[in-house]
Amino acid sequence: MIRVGVLGATGYAGAELVRILAGHPGVELTAVYSRQYAGVPFTDIYPSLSGVTDLVCEELSIESACGKADVVFMALPHKLPMELVPVCIRKGVKVIDLSADFRLRDAQVYEAHYQQHTAPDLLAKAVYGLSEINTERIRTADLVANPGCYPTSVLLPLAPLLKANLIDVESIIVDSKSGVSGAGRSPSLTVHFCEVNESLKPYKVATHRHNPEMEEHAGAIAGRPVKITFAPHLVPVTRGMLSTIYTRPIVKIDEDDIQRCIEDFYGGRSFIRRLGRKRMPDMLHVRGSNYCDIGFTLDKSRGCLILASAIDNLIKGAAGQAVQNMNIMLGLDERTGLAMTPFPI
Ligand SMILES: NC(=O)c1ccc[n+]([C@@H]2O[C@H](COP(=O)([O-])OP(=O)(O)OC[C@H]3O[C@@H](n4cnc5c(N)ncnc54)[C@H](OP(=O)(O)O)[C@@H]3O)[C@@H](O)[C@H]2O)c1
Repeated sequence: MIRVGVLGATGYAGAELVRILAGHPGVELTAVYSRQYAGVPFTDIYPSLSGVTDLVCEELSIESACGKADVVFMALPHKLPMELVPVCIRKGVKVIDLSADFRLRDAQVYEAHYQQHTAPDLLAKAVYGLSEINTERIRTADLVANPGCYPTSVLLPLAPLLKANLIDVESIIVDSKSGVSGAGRSPSLTVHFCEVNESLKPYKVATHRHNPEMEEHAGAIAGRPVKITFAPHLVPVTRGMLSTIYTRPIVKIDEDDIQRCIEDFYGGRSFIRRLGRKRMPDMLHVRGSNYCDIGFTLDKSRGCLILASAIDNLIKGAAGQAVQNMNIMLGLDERTGLAMTPFPI
């Protein structure tokens, strides 16, 4: 049985990884690591997982993780993984990194938005883990850079149209809404209950760090540079992400063409639910699952194609996609361990 370990297991993405991996039939979760909670049973931190895992958190150590796991998941804040990943690669341990450290190809772009990169030689080795788009490259990857939640929700609906060259790549406008768990577990004033409850606010408009990530990978899909104007919002829900994307068709198309384009692109991929023009996506309908729901409306009178997507930021936007990538890397059915049905309500 393939052994897996989770670094940063006590964070929101890490806990979701533990939930999924503890019930995964194709791997054994052998170790979970934490700084603050070393020696503490995982279920003392997340009692909902009682009866699911009896693992005790271990002191964060990359040597230990490489000894106990064949695949290591890093659910740590950026900067830390680029120090730890080289050790795993040297030891022949596969890595799925949920941070931004290996998502951008160019170290200079990374450094313009984050900080100095200490393992730039590994950037070319990393495969961007957008599961449905880079499947073939993920299969043989030793290092997968799991995408950010906003880029996942934006790139999945855009990809078929970019690939088919149906939309103007200079005039894409994205309005995204994220649940507060997207900011992680560490408390801060901006995610304090009283600051977010019963309210809605844009933040980091046109300056969010996910903006260059979505432009780089949209460009790779389109085969030419893509510009995306991006306005993220924090909404008073725990989990969920909704992106509304405004684009301009550059050829004469109708709704049937768009539906066919999305269908042809994603046909056979279980986690992309194509709602077509009949229904717009709803965060509630994907909550707790690895689905990405995609819908669209063609506003012919204004020459605008409006796409929308909904994901659970912690699952398709983080831990679920990471496990989907692991399944692809290990040659398993990509759905293994991910058959979670969203709550009806
Ligand atoms: N939340 C999301 O929706 C989401 C979506 C996509 C990607 N991600 C990415 O996933 C990663 C984890 O995000 P998260 O939201 O789960 O964050 P989080 O809730 O803040 O968890 C981060 C984890 O890392 C550990 N940690 C924090 N600082 C550390 C340090 N300096 N040294 C060692 N360990 C440290 C913390 O646990 P201990 O203190 O117990 O060690 C904690 O378990 C981030 O890179 C994030 O960008 C998150």
